[in-house]
Amino acid sequence: MSNTPLVLDPKARDRVGEDRELRSRGRVARVDLLGVEAWAVSHPDYLKRLLVDNRVSKDSRRHYPDFEQTVQRWPLWLWIAVENMFTAYGTDHRALRRLVGPAFNHRRTQAMRPVIQTITDRLLERMLTKQRAGDRVDLRADFAHQLPMDVIHHLMGMPRAWQEAMAEPVGKVFDTSLDMAAALQNGEALKALLGRFVKHKREHPGDDLTTDLIRARDGEMRLSEEQLVDTLLLVFSAGYETTVGLIVNTHRNLLTHPRQLEIVRRNPEEATVAAVQETLRRDASVAFLPLRYATEPIDLPEIGVRIEQGEPILAAYSAAGRHPDIFDQPDAFDVLRSNASAHLSFGHGAHMCLGAPLAVAEAEIATRSFLKAFPDAVIAVEEEQLTPVESIISNSLSALPITTSGRIPSGAAA
Ligand code: HEM
Repeated sequence: MSNTPLVLDPKARDRVGEDRELRSRGRVARVDLLGVEAWAVSHPDYLKRLLVDNRVSKDSRRHYPDFEQTVQRWPLWLWIAVENMFTAYGTDHRALRRLVGPAFNHRRTQAMRPVIQTITDRLLERMLTKQRAGDRVDLRADFAHQLPMDVIHHLMGMPRAWQEAMAEPVGKVFDTSLDMAAALQNGEALKALLGRFVKHKREHPGDDLTTDLIRARDGEMRLSEEQLVDTLLLVFSAGYETTVGLIVNTHRNLLTHPRQLEIVRRNPEEATVAAVQETLRRDASVAFLPLRYATEPIDLPEIGVRIEQGEPILAAYSAAGRHPDIFDQPDAFDVLRSNASAHLSFGHGAHMCLGAPLAVAEAEIATRSFLKAFPDAVIAVEEEQLTPVESIISNSLSALPITTSGRIPSGAAA
């Protein structure tokens, strides 16, 4: 194993190559994440094992000895400094998660499907109008960006007027090309905005998750004001950029793999579900998830690794999704793959994504409806012109221009 940490590219210019290099360095390997060294876990078996290990915590205040100095200088400070379920451990985590969990259960998600369909139809109609007027359509900006935003605003009871103000700072939470000053300014601006939103909802309560959380805080005092604002921050940011990425990646995969697209067109009900799962496996929209810490030394003698108490651990989800030990021909996009849903792209264990069923419902409805509305859509630029989102964490494209005439870009696989 190489002792020199792999320095992760803040702009993620070659995600697939970087993940390949990471896997080649071992199942658990040293990385440098914007100046913080961590053990990156890219082998699915080890990832699963460590994600359920009680000796691994996300509570940076309790279990990360370098917490104080790191939050002062690290552009990803918000990821470890927020006070919500994301950075909680043990019973604290269970209590915080219980407050939000019911809002995302199966029944509530099913009830959201007609809302998702209505939003999708409205966005597609707008895109068709734009296209008829001869304007270029960007599947990310015009569709994938809007859908999760509208869904999350509906769930949280946030009026439309707030949407634009929210979009930019939430997006920047994932932007790892920001320096410390810009990341600090952005995080503080986002928290201030959410603080004002809480004030607004106290004055204008509704039948929504924000009002439920405010009642939990004001009624039983189980949440501090900080935890309330940070829980809203988590739901908005977790529910937005990640799902945008999944929708973009699913469409990109289908539009660049004509034979797979054909399978989906022939059987849209079932094969769309499969295409979304296969995209989650192949192109996890959360590539890396900072950070976890060993609460005591963890020995993995069979691979020659010892993680010392307090050392950071990084879940490497996109590298795990293409691990050849688990997935045959892992770089291929194959909607008929039998074990695609064995991916870990929503995490595993206590912190497993609360919004996974909602995200999948959004991506499925978006994909099925888009393919129907734009039956002959193709990507309007060459594959090499597609640029990634500048983020170690978020794995997606900054734009996906489409047209209904033109040729399929070269390099398109089957
Ligand atoms: C494709 C879309 C999504 C992906 C890939 C994704 C991925 C993840 C992952 C990997 C985690 C686990 C983090 C860890 O390792 O500790 C997580 C946690 C979480 N996600 Fe998602 N997520 C998505 C969509 C959503 C949506 C739509 C929501 C809600 C609206 C949401 C809410 C959450 C919350 C609240 C947590 C924290 C759970 C906890 O700490 O107990 N996510 N997500």
